[in-house]
Amino acid sequence: MTSLVKVLNENTIYNSEKLSNFIKYLEEKYIIKDEVIFFNQLVNFSQNNSIPLHGWFKYREGYSHTLVREMITRFTIDTKKEFIVDPFCGAGTTLVEAAVNNLDSMGVDVNPMSVAVTNAKTNSYSKADIEEVKLLIEEIPSIDLDQTEIIDYEDIQQYFSEDNFRALLAIKEFVNNISKPSVKELFFSGFLSIIEDSSDRKRDGNGLKKSLSKVTSVIDFYCDKMKLLMADISESSFCNIGKGYFGSATQLDKYVHEFSEEINKKPGLIVFSPPYANSFDYFESYKMELRMGDFIPRLGVKGLSDLRRLAIRSFVSAAKDPIEVDEIIDLMAIEIEEAIPLKETYTGKKDSRTRKVPQMIRGYFHDMGKVLEKCGKVLESGHKCCIVVDQSSYLGKIVPTDLFLAYLGEQVGFNVKEIIICRKAKTSGQQLQKYPYLAESLRESIVVLEKK
Ligand SMILES: C[S@@+](CC[C@H](N)C(=O)[O-])C[C@H]1O[C@@H](n2cnc3c(N)ncnc32)[C@H](O)[C@@H]1O
Repeated sequence: MTSLVKVLNENTIYNSEKLSNFIKYLEEKYIIKDEVIFFNQLVNFSQNNSIPLHGWFKYREGYSHTLVREMITRFTIDTKKEFIVDPFCGAGTTLVEAAVNNLDSMGVDVNPMSVAVTNAKTNSYSKADIEEVKLLIEEIPSIDLDQTEIIDYEDIQQYFSEDNFRALLAIKEFVNNISKPSVKELFFSGFLSIIEDSSDRKRDGNGLKKSLSKVTSVIDFYCDKMKLLMADISESSFCNIGKGYFGSATQLDKYVHEFSEEINKKPGLIVFSPPYANSFDYFESYKMELRMGDFIPRLGVKGLSDLRRLAIRSFVSAAKDPIEVDEIIDLMAIEIEEAIPLKETYTGKKDSRTRKVPQMIRGYFHDMGKVLEKCGKVLESGHKCCIVVDQSSYLGKIVPTDLFLAYLGEQVGFNVKEIIICRKAKTSGQQLQKYPYLAESLRESIVVLEKK
């Protein structure tokens, strides 16, 4: 990949000389290693979806488990005394990979649906549990569809055909009647994982787009899914502890403390991929699962906005009030702010969405600074915190998220060990056409911090 300094020297990307010079200074100050070839091979060899446990739920934002494995291998922990922490655990890639490698781990996420999936994956299932799962799977074909009443879910009915919707509600009732918590969690996770395919919607960009379901029998589909889940848990019997907590990474210390007390170990390594500063709203695209899983009472603004309030401000509707941020982060936001009128004059259209991006940038780095502070608080000296993150760009302005997170980490008690470039990061075709330098410079990297 082309070095960012070279790209900045050859193109006038930022109007602010101070911002441009500071980014060059960070890029030259840190050890930046290009390992694109190595990581491309690693990731292409095994995708999450074809690997036991990782493939249960299509979590679009999930990162590759091989990347996690690589970090766990490079930055070993003392298994007897320490555990792994993921402040943004999503559907549990880090926790599953930790368990596969016989390590204890804990994670936090503001999406309650992903926490449920994480916990179902990392539970340890006894032989008796597996026997019970087998018997319950045999009962699935006789789930009674006629008894199901469509009450209280009118707000999401439009996303499904009548038959599929009725079948999903009947499955939900079946799951609700399971008494053993870990077995129930497994069937619930299976239920959550079939909702998208059973609906007439597909996750797309920032939300859902129309796409007729190919599932002709939801009951058969669920049955097959549960057989797959059963095969996976029969194969992998974990003896370590993995636990997901519903909550915000800005309160990481609280959850780490709780887990630490429970297993009498300390955090040895933090590994995560945070939301990227790319305007994605995590809750909008999972609203069917959040609603059908009874995580929120209604789909209206209220239902989702309670969750959004907890999230890192990586999406445009998030940050409205004034936010105090580091001077460099503010310069980044101002750069984008100043580029908007030019674009609007050129296109002759008001771009309401991009107008909100500068404030999102301020909110994002403000919140991530808080999370890094908490990471520093829970780690002892010499321990590592690895962040997998994409850079983003708006109106041709590169937001060097990896450099900025490293810089913010330095302010809260970390040394920056290195930044490992793993892949090119994607951007829209429109931006690439207008700003060709993005193709060679936008990157996904692992920022490796070490507690002082
Ligand atoms: C890039 S995804 C992580 C995916 C995860 N590594 C996996 O493989 O499944 C970022 C996650 O951060 C979560 N998130 C957003 N704001 C959060 C916050 N304040 N605290 C904890 N999690 C948050 C989102 O719900 C999302 O699951």
